Amino acid sequence: MIVFAVFLLCFGSTLCAETVKYAAIIYRHGDRTPIDTYPTDPWRNESLWPVKFGELTNIGKRQHYALGQWLRRRYSHLLSEQFDPTQIYVRSTDVDRTLMSAQANLAGLYPPTGNSVWDKDLMWQPIPVHTVPEKDDELLAMKKPCMAFDKEKEKYIHSKAYKERLIKYQPLMKYLSANTGLKVKTLYDIDNLYSILYIEQIYNFTLPNWTHSVFPNKMAEPAGYSFTEFTATPLMARLKIGPLLKQILTNMFSVMSGKKSKDLRMSMYSGHDLTVGSVLNGLGLFDGKCPLYTSTVLMELIYDNTTQSHFIKILYRNSSDIVEPHVLNITKCGEKCPVSKFIKIYDNILSVNWEYECGKQFPPLLGISFFIGLGLFVIIYVAHKMHFARVSREYGFNAGYSNIQAVAVTPIKTLEE
Ligand SMILES: *[C@@H]1O[C@H](CO)[C@@H](O)[C@H](O)[C@H]1NC(C)=O
Ligand SMILES: *[C@@H]1O[C@H](CO)[C@@H](O)[C@H](O)[C@H]1NC(C)=O
Ligand SMILES: *[C@@H]1O[C@H](CO)[C@@H](O)[C@H](O)[C@H]1NC(C)=O
Ligand SMILES: *[C@@H]1O[C@H](CO)[C@@H](O)[C@H](O)[C@H]1NC(C)=O
Ligand SMILES: *[C@@H]1O[C@H](CO)[C@@H](O)[C@H](O)[C@H]1NC(C)=O
Ligand SMILES: *[C@@H]1O[C@H](CO)[C@@H](O)[C@H](O)[C@H]1NC(C)=O
Repeated sequence: MIVFAVFLLCFGSTLCAETVKYAAIIYRHGDRTPIDTYPTDPWRNESLWPVKFGELTNIGKRQHYALGQWLRRRYSHLLSEQFDPTQIYVRSTDVDRTLMSAQANLAGLYPPTGNSVWDKDLMWQPIPVHTVPEKDDELLAMKKPCMAFDKEKEKYIHSKAYKERLIKYQPLMKYLSANTGLKVKTLYDIDNLYSILYIEQIYNFTLPNWTHSVFPNKMAEPAGYSFTEFTATPLMARLKIGPLLKQILTNMFSVMSGKKSKDLRMSMYSGHDLTVGSVLNGLGLFDGKCPLYTSTVLMELIYDNTTQSHFIKILYRNSSDIVEPHVLNITKCGEKCPVSKFIKIYDNILSVNWEYECGKQFPPLLGISFFIGLGLFVIIYVAHKMHFARVSREYGFNAGYSNIQAVAVTPIKTLEE
């Protein structure tokens, strides 16, 4: 309690040696219903649940409202009480439960005060939440197609390390398949079932007897491992979490440069357990446990007045309750990591040129059609050249030149589309 008080004091006071200048907040949505159930599930009837499958529940709304209030207390020196669009940018994945979580969170962070009260019976105000369709979102949903990632993942799935890991859980997967009516073949499949049973337990639904021997203990470890699969190799980590970390570091640089025109102080990212798990694992800081509802990664840019330098702190609030976050020990750098050292350590992730790197490889079919196209181009070009040469020889004028251009360009154009 005393530690907590000192901590808060330190955050508010200008005399304090360390001040947070910018924070990136990455969290999981709140309590939800199962996204789907399994064929033999006694609780598979959607009408048994408070809301439709995969949606945020009232419990989830309360959790995020409370988190928003906690963020207000923690960052009261950073964010003005009145909503200021230059100070905060909120981004969500394009999914109901994350969009709603962000809105509930912002209701806690920005209760209307003074002249922002617009209805005295409604102590709420709208705050913008930005999103893009998941298929176009490489930043937060991390679902925009990337050929280089697919290729690397394919390589990883066929690696010895992966196969050995999977073999360890073969008996469990067989048992789960036999009892659920699902084909359980991957760690994701185990996590999917783990998450369903976990939710049913929260909702006090009696779990079938077959679950007692495997849930939660035997399933917890492989379920947790599933969150490492987006970032299993350095290249996969680079392609999945590179864009998000690059955006955060770019924001930090902008803050450090001190340009008043860009006064961004907080970026808030509303995502999923996979978002939180991937960020942590990509940074080498994941503890292997399934990220709980509203679990939050805080990346803070801190100015130290005594050394007159900036450093980065990464904290993890690994709970659905309002508790203080744990400071993570950044590999090879510690709990207070100087910005320049941070960039050196994570250069491999931060230097990503996403669009370029993802498109480097042609898919096999496009590759083949490219060569067919090239072949056609050469044949047509040579034929026309010969024809042109013959025509100009026979008739002595420059007929057909523009024609050659048009025909020659066509096959390449088609390929580019
Ligand atoms: C930084 O420290 C100096 C003296 O050490 C003090 O005068 C100044 O107010 C401090 N500034 C901040 C922002 O803490
Ligand atoms: C689900 O439950 C509702 C209400 O009890 C019932 O009307 C409906 O028939 C059930 N649906 C299925 C598929 O069992
Ligand atoms: C489950 O039961 C406990 C104990 O009765 C209760 O506190 C809790 O609110 C229940 N959970 C839900 C989601 O209703
Ligand atoms: C589950 O086990 C309990 C006690 O072990 C037993 O009383 C109950 O009948 C079993 N339920 C089913 C559906 O087999
Ligand atoms: C949260 O993290 C702390 C520190 O790593 C750990 O001691 C604790 O067991 C974790 N709690 C959960 C629920 O994972
Ligand atoms: C952080 O980890 C390093 C080893 O990687 C260790 O030497 C150091 O004591 C740790 N720091 C803290 C504050 O736990």
